[in-house]
Amino acid sequence: MATGIIGTGSFLPPTIIDNNELAKLVKTDDEWIREHTGIIERHIATDETTSFMATEAAKAAIENAGIDVREIDLILLATLSPERATPSMSCIVQDKIGAVNATCFDLNAACSGFVYALQTADAYIKAGMAKTALVIGAETLSKLVDWKDRSTCILFADGAGAAVVTESDHGIISSVTHSDGSKGMSLKCKDRSTRNFLNRKHEDPHYIQMIGPDIFKFAVRRVPACIELLLQRAGVSREEVAYYVLHQANARIVASVSKKMDIPLDRFPMNIEHCGNTSSASIPILLDEMNRKEMLKKGDKIVLCGFGGGLTWGAQLIEW
Ligand code: UT7
Repeated sequence: MATGIIGTGSFLPPTIIDNNELAKLVKTDDEWIREHTGIIERHIATDETTSFMATEAAKAAIENAGIDVREIDLILLATLSPERATPSMSCIVQDKIGAVNATCFDLNAACSGFVYALQTADAYIKAGMAKTALVIGAETLSKLVDWKDRSTCILFADGAGAAVVTESDHGIISSVTHSDGSKGMSLKCKDRSTRNFLNRKHEDPHYIQMIGPDIFKFAVRRVPACIELLLQRAGVSREEVAYYVLHQANARIVASVSKKMDIPLDRFPMNIEHCGNTSSASIPILLDEMNRKEMLKKGDKIVLCGFGGGLTWGAQLIEW
């Protein structure tokens, strides 16, 4: 018995900001952003919140799965940008969709969040603690970036993606996750709750701060090794995998992984040009796009791989 994905959904806020718009805010230009990241435009939330976008993605995934919402007994929502500390985003989604039988909690593994949440759902299902789970990645990173910092505001964006998973005869074959807290400060964002109101002048900014090249090098080193381990554990060769669905952090990272692993770039679907880097939401948004374009055939083997803040990284091998 495996944990299989039976439905996907996503939501992108309708407001689109292209590179030329950003060039009006910070010293940058369309050519630099395209060449260094692959991004042309991104969706930015205006009134949409993380829980709202997560709810919309969840509704689409449930409809795609064709299940009764009362069958869902677990909701896991990965995010680093919830609009409130409590109630959790997953509890808000539960209420909005009427998943009255679900246990709900959020988890934060930054850009690896969806992969971590999927692994957790798989563990619950394998342990007999749940049968049908809703796994969501949702982010409103536009609220966490400093719109005066050209090294981050050109990269991060908003959106949500979701998957319904359940007991099945095919699905997750193997799963690996890793963390290295000792390198965590190369991608950081202080929480607002740490504000010291008696001594505010020395406080760090509550914005995302990133040493981009360090994270880039970490990704290009760790992702191939992680995928190798995943495939080795499953006894599956690189060639047997139809698609490598990587976190959409930067098109150059994806291209470097493809080159380093000697796997053709066309096996690495991308949508970063229109979505930017949506952290935990990027993998389920891309997966939903692929599912709706009918790129995934029954029996296809696919790899999902997330990496980012924490530092965290991880991957799953799935038979569709
Ligand atoms: O989501 C998971 C975690 N995040 C990631 O995986 C992101 C990983 N990192 C990256 O994607 C890249 O490091 C960035 C896209 C963030 C930056 O690209 P880069 O090629 O690593 O640029 P850099 O930081 O090495 O900067 C190169 C130059 C610098 O100028 P000097 O010092 O060479 O004169 C920067 O000041 O480019 C400059 N620069 C820019 N110029 C125009 C940095 N950002 C910009 C910009 N427009 N937006």
